[in-house]
Amino acid sequence: LNSVTILALGDLIGSPGRDCLKRWLPQIKEDWNPDIFLVNGENAASGSGMTEKIFLELTQKYGFDVVTTGNHWLGKKNPELFLGQHRNLLLPANMYNVSDPSLGFCIRKTASGVSYAVINLIGRVYMQQGNRCPFKAAQEILARIPKSVSIRIIDMHGEVTSEKQALAYSVKDLVSLCYGTHTHCPTADERIWGDRMGYITDLGMTGAYDSIIGMQKEASLEYFLTGHKKEYEPARGHPWLCGVIAKVDAGTGRCYFIERIRYSSMV
Ligand SMILES: [Fe+2]
Ligand SMILES: [Fe+2]
Repeated sequence: LNSVTILALGDLIGSPGRDCLKRWLPQIKEDWNPDIFLVNGENAASGSGMTEKIFLELTQKYGFDVVTTGNHWLGKKNPELFLGQHRNLLLPANMYNVSDPSLGFCIRKTASGVSYAVINLIGRVYMQQGNRCPFKAAQEILARIPKSVSIRIIDMHGEVTSEKQALAYSVKDLVSLCYGTHTHCPTADERIWGDRMGYITDLGMTGAYDSIIGMQKEASLEYFLTGHKKEYEPARGHPWLCGVIAKVDAGTGRCYFIERIRYSSMV
């Protein structure tokens, strides 16, 4: 069995999230020795968006192979970063403000020469208006990936559990690993679905959990009490790194192992 180990981390929230990498990535490498490193970076730059400096930090310093994003991809208003010069920085292929679905997937090789594809999609339920159908987008992109690329991974960025599960179910025979992102709350339902696809409804965030979805509690609570929205800052307390480890047979693309991981500190 030629096994490939995949690490996938949920939404990385600002500098507290990036500090989690510094703190725990060496331990993860020791514990799991992943071949493929994936992270959702939509909140990496102070809670919203991405900068080139942070992207290079994630890929060069920490060794992430592909960075996916979500509805906050344009948070730092620098679309030039996303116009394809970094093919391993993905946008949600079917988002209303992403006109070229090619920016939503890439094909890469592991150090040992195994090809894999990563696809980034976004939901429509309780998300921005105008996102295109993720089910259609998934099929269209999967049809563009050569059969020889047997490892296919989807980051399905969405709010609603049912939509994420339905999307995963619709691709279960064509995909090795499908995980949800965006809610910033890890779900406990990781499993192998259809005897082939590793699945979890949400990876959870890598950031501060003494927070409201990673951001300062006070500003968020005030918004719910008064309706006034302030600039949110990432919170700092209780940093956790959350995601999954999945193992896939490189020959068939079948996932045979998936486990949630959480490296956490209560200070
Ligand atoms: Fe997020
Ligand atoms: Fe999001």
